[in-house]
Amino acid sequence: MNILRRNRRLRTNEVIRSLVRETVITPNDFIVPLFIVEGKGIKEEIPSMPNYFRYSLDLLEKEIKELCLLGLKSVLLFVKVPDNLKDNKGTEALNPNGLMQRAIDCIKNAVPQILVMTDVALDPYSIFGHDGIIENGQIINDPTVEVLSQMALSHAQAGADFVAPSDMMDGRILSIRNTLDNNNLTNIGIMAYSAKYASAFYGPFRDALDSAPVDVQNIPKDKKTYQMDYANRIEVLREVESDIEEGADIVMVKPGLCYLDIVREVKNCVNVPVSVYQVSGEYAMIKAASEKGWLDHDAVMLEQIYAIKRAGADLIASYFAKDVVKLL
Ligand code: PBG
Repeated sequence: MNILRRNRRLRTNEVIRSLVRETVITPNDFIVPLFIVEGKGIKEEIPSMPNYFRYSLDLLEKEIKELCLLGLKSVLLFVKVPDNLKDNKGTEALNPNGLMQRAIDCIKNAVPQILVMTDVALDPYSIFGHDGIIENGQIINDPTVEVLSQMALSHAQAGADFVAPSDMMDGRILSIRNTLDNNNLTNIGIMAYSAKYASAFYGPFRDALDSAPVDVQNIPKDKKTYQMDYANRIEVLREVESDIEEGADIVMVKPGLCYLDIVREVKNCVNVPVSVYQVSGEYAMIKAASEKGWLDHDAVMLEQIYAIKRAGADLIASYFAKDVVKLL
């Protein structure tokens, strides 16, 4: 037969396939999200996130050392705040001796070279489970930005390398940048959750931190007045553009798999690193289907991670980081 082009030649065996492979995954691609709780000796599994745990500070140290041995060198911290410390304004978030601040210190003491990123948003601290302060049933922007800036400052003073505002308030990147700079913290980076969609895939995360919006009259039941409408693509360009102008060092798209068109769109339009958060619901889906024997866990996991990187992710926040790296 006269076939003009035999594309299968480059797929003949694994050696040639790996020689021409376009996308490569290494431990350097990952940011490991970590959930932290008060107490001692606690390593508790999150029911909707099988094989993912909340750690108390004493056991966190061991986990960090394990990550390090696997070559995972960046972490993103989230804290589960006791109910009695929650209020409308996130007062506890500014406590210099709060759980987040102690966690940063603990990690930096255990392994100084670990890059510590921290979540900046009010929801774990909010009695209403929202990322901002509520007044008359609305999430109010500017007063929230003030608190977020102080929160970022507090994390940086505790030793965080990067702050990661995940709240989607307007103007928070500029305000955080100015606050850090005015306190001589010019080296502290900002990873902005720039394209964060109002997604149902955050469910298991909200279980992990007990941070879901409350079901109370006059309180919004969802985050649609600040997180993005998943029907939109062009709007994302305005979000990343303003975050970069305001001082973001890294921009993020979140969730991952359902938003790979957005990842590519952003990657093609910006000249800062793009990170992607493969979120809790994406993790839970793979776990559930593989527990039922319906999908091959490792194969599907790798395929999704490669897809995220191929779409344009320079870095990936993923609950699978350890599992993936062990397979490489
Ligand atoms: C809170 C925050 C959320 C996630 C990261 N930071 C949840 C939310 O916005 O409700 C979700 C992460 C995940 O689902 O894995 N601002």
